[in-house]
Amino acid sequence: MDCETKLWLVVIFLFSSAIYCVVGEPQVPCLFIFGDSLSDSGNNNNLNTDAKVNYRPYGIDFPGGPTGRFTNGRTSADILTQILGFPNFIPPYANTEGADIVLGVNYASGAAGIRNETGTHLGPDISMGLQVQHHTDIVSQITKILGSEKVQEHLNKCLYYVNIGSNDYLNNYFLPQFYPSNGKYTADQYAAALVKEHSTYLKALHGLGARKFSLFGLGPLGCIPHEISTHGKNNSLCVKEENNAAKLFNEKLKALVDRFNKELPDSKFIIVGGATKSHDVKLIDIAICCKVGSNGQCIPDEKPCRVRDLHPFFDAFHPTEVVNKLTAETAYHALSPSLAYPMDISHLVKL
Ligand SMILES: *[C@@H]1O[C@H](CO)[C@@H](O)[C@H](O)[C@H]1NC(C)=O
Ligand SMILES: *[C@@H]1O[C@H](CO)[C@@H](O)[C@H](O)[C@H]1NC(C)=O
Repeated sequence: MDCETKLWLVVIFLFSSAIYCVVGEPQVPCLFIFGDSLSDSGNNNNLNTDAKVNYRPYGIDFPGGPTGRFTNGRTSADILTQILGFPNFIPPYANTEGADIVLGVNYASGAAGIRNETGTHLGPDISMGLQVQHHTDIVSQITKILGSEKVQEHLNKCLYYVNIGSNDYLNNYFLPQFYPSNGKYTADQYAAALVKEHSTYLKALHGLGARKFSLFGLGPLGCIPHEISTHGKNNSLCVKEENNAAKLFNEKLKALVDRFNKELPDSKFIIVGGATKSHDVKLIDIAICCKVGSNGQCIPDEKPCRVRDLHPFFDAFHPTEVVNKLTAETAYHALSPSLAYPMDISHLVKL
């Protein structure tokens, strides 16, 4: 190993220990998580849906094994929870019994989207609208705990983590055999309709006391192995049409961030993630860690790959923990302004 490489390793080590140094209070008093399978930590376990994964090999690298997380270890939301200094993971709404809900709740649901019908060909899910309703319920419980004088001040300081929209494409727009949206809207019209509907949910959260919003842009959906295998064409690596659709959504979400930051000056909205650059997954079989069924999820009890960190995807849809770690660290501390607009989470939480 040459000297320069060693130096870089030292720098990386110092950098990551600085981030993970957990002393005293978390950087925000509470964290509420809205989203889909990228953030779900067990909310779908008791739903009659195919979109649930509370079985091995999911959770193989998670303390306690399978929980309903759609990956081998922690989700990006979990890792951000730790970076922010919370002593425990944020509990799923489906199981807040005995949990300290004043610190936050995770409402995310696999297959869910901004639109109510999204993902429902797999069974019921908890759409963004329902997640907001669940938050209304939690806010009234927290009001009983803290009292109506203190509750707003508390809720204003929380971080609201919102990562949703992928399924409005993967499990709606690009499945015309199940959903009419593709025939009804062009990709541009659809992105506009999604962001418009999303804006009503975000306004509702604002009405419930939310002030610090971290919204996530969509990743390159057309480079997800399941999409390449079901919609891919020979001559292109990823599904261009799907990447373009995600890009349109991200542009409109960014415009919404600008609009809300003007219209709601008591609040701050940021957009993170959504890198439009696609990663190279030419070798799909090597990219995926576990053996998947036709639904793209790991086959129960099949042995997964041994070195999970070398595979970007755990199943045919969901990233491995090592990728989730990069996502969370980049959202928290973005090394380039294009990755977090107009600021990253480390700055948002200090406001
Ligand atoms: C979606 O579901 C929510 C929650 O049940 C409901 O309030 C809302 O009216 C529905 N939206 C549409 C467009 O159907
Ligand atoms: C893809 O490649 C295979 C084998 O080279 C060929 O038979 C098939 O027609 C091609 N499909 C498309 C959509 O180009």
